[in-house]
Amino acid sequence: MDKDYILEIEGLSKGFPGVQALDKVSFNVERGTIHALVGENGAGKSTLIKILAGIYRADAGNVTLNGQAIAFKTPHEARVAGISVVHQEMKLAEPLSVAENLFVGGILTGRGNLVDWKEMRRRAKEIIDNLGVEIDVRAPVDSLTVAKKQIVEVCRAVNMNCKLMIMDEPSATLTDRELEILFGIAKKLRGEGITIIYISHRLDEIFNLADNVTVLRDGLMVNTVPVRDVTKRRLISMMVGRELGLEYPKEAAQIGDVLLEVKNLVRNGVLHDISFNVRQGEVLGISGLVGSGRTELARAILGIDKIDSGEVYVRGKKKLYRSFREAIKDGLGLIPEDRKTQGLVQIFSVKRNICMVSLDKIIKKGIVSARLEQQYGEEYAKKLRIMTPSMNTQVQYLSGGNQQKVVVTKWMMQNSEILFMDEPTRGIDVGAKTEIYHLINDLVKQGKTVIMISSEMPEILGMCDRIVILHEGKMVGELMRDEATQERIMEKCV
Ligand SMILES: Nc1ncnc2c1ncn2[C@@H]1O[C@H](COP(=O)(O)OP(=O)(O)OP(=O)(O)O)[C@@H](O)[C@H]1O
Ligand SMILES: [Mg+2]
Repeated sequence: MDKDYILEIEGLSKGFPGVQALDKVSFNVERGTIHALVGENGAGKSTLIKILAGIYRADAGNVTLNGQAIAFKTPHEARVAGISVVHQEMKLAEPLSVAENLFVGGILTGRGNLVDWKEMRRRAKEIIDNLGVEIDVRAPVDSLTVAKKQIVEVCRAVNMNCKLMIMDEPSATLTDRELEILFGIAKKLRGEGITIIYISHRLDEIFNLADNVTVLRDGLMVNTVPVRDVTKRRLISMMVGRELGLEYPKEAAQIGDVLLEVKNLVRNGVLHDISFNVRQGEVLGISGLVGSGRTELARAILGIDKIDSGEVYVRGKKKLYRSFREAIKDGLGLIPEDRKTQGLVQIFSVKRNICMVSLDKIIKKGIVSARLEQQYGEEYAKKLRIMTPSMNTQVQYLSGGNQQKVVVTKWMMQNSEILFMDEPTRGIDVGAKTEIYHLINDLVKQGKTVIMISSEMPEILGMCDRIVILHEGKMVGELMRDEATQERIMEKCV
């Protein structure tokens, strides 16, 4: 029997200067299914969905939606035809209320062309209730958590009568519990006949959620298969085109003396009496739900945020960093969580971004050495497999994951003795994740110390020697590597 396809893609190609982002890609999407789209950073996933959503035009190829050829010139045309995208980066009008956001582009008017607020709120509440979540429709969107903002985006798509919903890495910033809610919503929508294209680097999700999966590699379609017919291992090898070693290649390093000690740290209303230490050569994990104070703890230690009481000792000496600059000078570093705003200068080249915080390495006699900059850029880009047409390309043209690799690289190159990594592998593909773990091994083998904040529990369990658990700004537990399990960590987070 012929399958019922909502979307048929044939020979789709799109090039950018220096890269063929999509090269004659063909696959079909069955109606009422969840269809995963996977591939390494820069494989072409976002480009493909931007074409479907009317943001980019394809160079060649045919796309049909419900059997009709389509080539949208604007996102509006795509929405009218029933295609909605839930972007990873929020597109919501932030200061507006939830209800207003659901109707952006189509405010309801009642008699006399007045805005019908009551009806808008009623409809908004109906949609939200139907998805089984609790969100106040009058709340301004910027007061919501990332997870709820995402749910509002989903609701807006539903309100616009969307038939094909595309989610580009929705999970990258969500906690496990929030993910479950999102998965529940996705499955419910599928039950109502909506088709979902789902992009993620977290492969476990694909197995939990999707019916079929398409693998892209370097702009080519490698395979489209039912999820039940593949193993995780097979999927990874299709994505990366080579065999990967261990997923978490943890190597034991020589663990030395205490390098950093935090005593009774308080930041009023945020951090409550936190005490812990880290040793030289150790990888310390900081675990906890989003909002538990993990990032805030790092920022307070590093002098980015003020502390109200408590002490920080580095190499046995009491320190009070008044700025992040001071902490950097003292050998501390941070790979920030919010890389969009804190990590990169979008219009600078890849190599300039990589070398930016380590200018001392490339400045000779007071001027920047172009040769050294190129050399360091290339060396590190190769280590993390950063996909870019050249070292001179502006980072804004790199795929999301490749931009993140640039930030990680930049801080790696700084040679910090104590490096905080806040969600270091978020949005980064499986192959490059492993590369980052190898770099962590290298760092600790050189006697450095890594403090890893991560929402990905397997990564914490796989790479850390010891795990500190935070909950609501308090330290609620500490586990050694050999006693830590996902359950034992979760137990402490409630
Ligand atoms: N506007 C653009 N200008 C130039 N090059 C671009 C542009 N958009 C994407 N590219 C390039 O096209 C290729 C595919 O990028 P795309 O964003 O589709 O990757 P992706 O699969 O979504 O990766 P990620 O997992 O990192 O998000 C990359 O090499 C990227 O640098
Ligand atoms: Mg992308």
